[in-house]
Amino acid sequence: MVEVVGLSIGLLAVLVMVALHFSPGTERVIPDDISQDILEHRAESVPETDFPEPMNRSIGGGAVPGSAVGGGGEAEGELAEGEDEEEEQSPSAIPDDEAESFEVEYVKEGETIEVKENETLLDAGEDEGWDLPYACRQGQCVSCGGQVTDGPSEDYVTHDGQEMLSEDELGDGYTLTCVAYPTADLTLETSETP
Ligand code: FES
Repeated sequence: MVEVVGLSIGLLAVLVMVALHFSPGTERVIPDDISQDILEHRAESVPETDFPEPMNRSIGGGAVPGSAVGGGGEAEGELAEGEDEEEEQSPSAIPDDEAESFEVEYVKEGETIEVKENETLLDAGEDEGWDLPYACRQGQCVSCGGQVTDGPSEDYVTHDGQEMLSEDELGDGYTLTCVAYPTADLTLETSETP
């Protein structure tokens, strides 16, 4: 009797194992490769821009597709063009023998000197041996600040890249002498900041 019960239990266990083996389970399908789906989703979520994406945002995360390389080349071409234009617009690019001169009165220094349109008010003053204030010489601080006493500074100078003065301050005559090229005769108070 004991043998029959043991045999039945063993048979039952075998049947359960066979049934489990052939059961369908959760039927969750795991795709072989989801990377393309992720990349496409990511590409959709990134807004379109007019400029070439940096490499780490390009589809493929580092591998630059041929078309992207081509597009970059084109963009570089456009940038180079823009840079050329910027260089052409800079008064410093005007050849010396073509540059017009203007009379600039430096009030505190007590002198009026000729300053060429391709020379900054700071450089011209330093050429006279005056110890004028400056720090960056790139229009990115206000150390070299001065004030044109005759009116809005941009009626008298062109700023080549100043990033610090507001429209109102320019309207009050303030100028950054390190990037200010004269376009008319003017009177300047050096060491003046807004
Ligand atoms: S020296 Fe910095 S803005 Fe002129």
